Amino acid sequence: MDSGLPKKPYLHVRVSCPDPRPLEGTLNVLNPLYTHHSEEKGILSLVFPSDNVDWTLRRLSGMSAQFEILEAGLSSRLETSGYRLMLPGGISMVSPGPGITPGAGDIVLKQNLSFGTGHHPTTELSIRLLREAFTVADIKAVFDLGTGSGILALYAAKLGASRILAVDIDPRACKEALEAVRTNDIGHRVFVVQGSIEAARPGVFDLVLANLTIGTLRTLAREIPGILRNPGFAVISGFTTGQVDQILRYIGTTEVIKNINQEGWAAVLIRTTR
Ligand SMILES: C[S@@+](CC[C@H](N)C(=O)[O-])C[C@H]1O[C@@H](n2cnc3c(N)ncnc32)[C@H](O)[C@@H]1O
Repeated sequence: MDSGLPKKPYLHVRVSCPDPRPLEGTLNVLNPLYTHHSEEKGILSLVFPSDNVDWTLRRLSGMSAQFEILEAGLSSRLETSGYRLMLPGGISMVSPGPGITPGAGDIVLKQNLSFGTGHHPTTELSIRLLREAFTVADIKAVFDLGTGSGILALYAAKLGASRILAVDIDPRACKEALEAVRTNDIGHRVFVVQGSIEAARPGVFDLVLANLTIGTLRTLAREIPGILRNPGFAVISGFTTGQVDQILRYIGTTEVIKNINQEGWAAVLIRTTR
């Protein structure tokens, strides 16, 4: 099967599977980067590197269990059907599709190729903690580090942030995030720039959002307190439950306000001081 999918940092797949043991042989061959089985939900989450997506999908198709692609650029499920997500705070995010039309006040996020449809656990966790940050502090200026589709920046704008700088090293993500900003008519509050943490002026942001891989966080996390006011807040995700302490060490002096997890992924809301 030729998936036709563009190359992504990884492929995240959800397999309906009450008991993963019969799949062990296939999984040994597939060699996922990350595996988590939720007994309660009967769901096996698998993350693969992007370099052999077609081969991985062919192998997965050969399994008896049903699987669903959660993040791999455009999954066929998301391509053909729009969706509506209810975000905390009664805010609705709509990806238009047959029979699904955005209403007044909805966040509109067209289906695109960048990470951030709202379905990945790390995006969901970030959304929950982003909302929490607005309940514990007066958040005006936000830096969205690795904006992808722009989903967190759009939600921060909806929650009331007045200035949001959204950056991504991927030009395609920037193009799509910019389109999302225009679609939602918030170009006066959200600025999209191709780049990374160096785009941020020191000491000016109330909140940093960083849903990144552990490798990227290893390099960038220690710079986060420096771009925040003192004190400041950050929502960090993209790592597993076992990596929380490591992340906190990278960042330095912090107070953990909340640490949440889902399907083996974790996210923290922290208060930083310098
Ligand atoms: C996991 S996605 C998160 C997307 C979105 N913020 C979300 O929460 O769904 C990470 C994004 O960070 C971008 N990225 C990776 N390394 C980066 C870096 N060093 N600086 C800025 N962006 C980076 C990737 O291109 C990708 O779009």
